[in-house]
Amino acid sequence: MNGTLHILFFSPTHSSRGIALALGDGLNAALGMPQKNRDLTFPAGREKSLNCAPDDILVFAFPVYGGRVPRTLEAPLSRLRGNGATAVIAAVYGNRDYDDALLEAADLLTRQGFTVTAAGAFIAEHSVAPSVGAGRPDAADMAALTDFARRAAAKIAAGKPTPISVKGKRPYKDRKPATDVRPKTADSCTRCMICVAGCPMRVISRDDPAVVAEGCIRCRACVKFCPERAKFFDDAETAKIREMLESKCLTRREPELFL
Ligand SMILES: Cc1cc2nc3c(=O)[nH]c(=O)nc-3n(C[C@H](O)[C@H](O)[C@H](O)COP(=O)(O)O)c2cc1C
Ligand code: SF4
Ligand code: SF4
Repeated sequence: MNGTLHILFFSPTHSSRGIALALGDGLNAALGMPQKNRDLTFPAGREKSLNCAPDDILVFAFPVYGGRVPRTLEAPLSRLRGNGATAVIAAVYGNRDYDDALLEAADLLTRQGFTVTAAGAFIAEHSVAPSVGAGRPDAADMAALTDFARRAAAKIAAGKPTPISVKGKRPYKDRKPATDVRPKTADSCTRCMICVAGCPMRVISRDDPAVVAEGCIRCRACVKFCPERAKFFDDAETAKIREMLESKCLTRREPELFL
């Protein structure tokens, strides 16, 4: 097909990234287009604009935060210009619920001039409570993703793709007011700087990685990737959320596809 396949993802703990790239591979196996990947996780990727041509295809994958599109993505998404290009969306969530996130993403991209022709909600390990959604996405999830990509590619290749309806409500679920919660650092920190490099908000100090400035989005990248398990959250709100997830969200949820 003519045009470019743009793969965009925001993925502090790398599950949305994996889904985005697998979806891109699946689409491109059928469509054979030049592909450009853009990582919106870090400021350099988030600050760029993108002006699509009508023949282009955009894949957008993101983690669900509080049943919504992460607030951090509002400005980067406002810099996309669809100009009639086709979009395929993947919302990635931690086995609780994706609530209104897929609808919000579809609305945002439609407003930016894309035709959203396929969307899916996929499950990954919950970054706040890793025992919830543990081992996801697994082989069955990846098979569902491959099937989704195959069906989306067939729809696109068949001609002018039609817009879809996805699950969700307007007005969207309320966002909780932002509170200033930051991770703490244990004495076992070796100053390896892995957390500094992996922080999407660049709030961990290069001079002393135990110092975290205001602006943490609680994405858990620093917690997940610290080889010493030295970064942690010990606030009451995190403990309450983890307890709720571990008691109420263990029943396996399945991918939902909208085509
Ligand atoms: C701040 C925050 C809020 C989250 N909110 C939800 C949610 O509302 N529903 C849910 O099922 N998972 C939720 N999750 C889990 C993430 O959506 C899930 O772990 C996702 O795979 C993370 O994506 P990433 O690996 O690309 O960073 C949340 C995670 C974080 C850090
Ligand atoms: S990743 Fe862990 S050990 Fe490395 S600097 Fe950060 S807190 Fe310290
Ligand atoms: S400091 Fe906050 S924003 Fe930065 S990686 Fe850790 S949890 Fe994410």
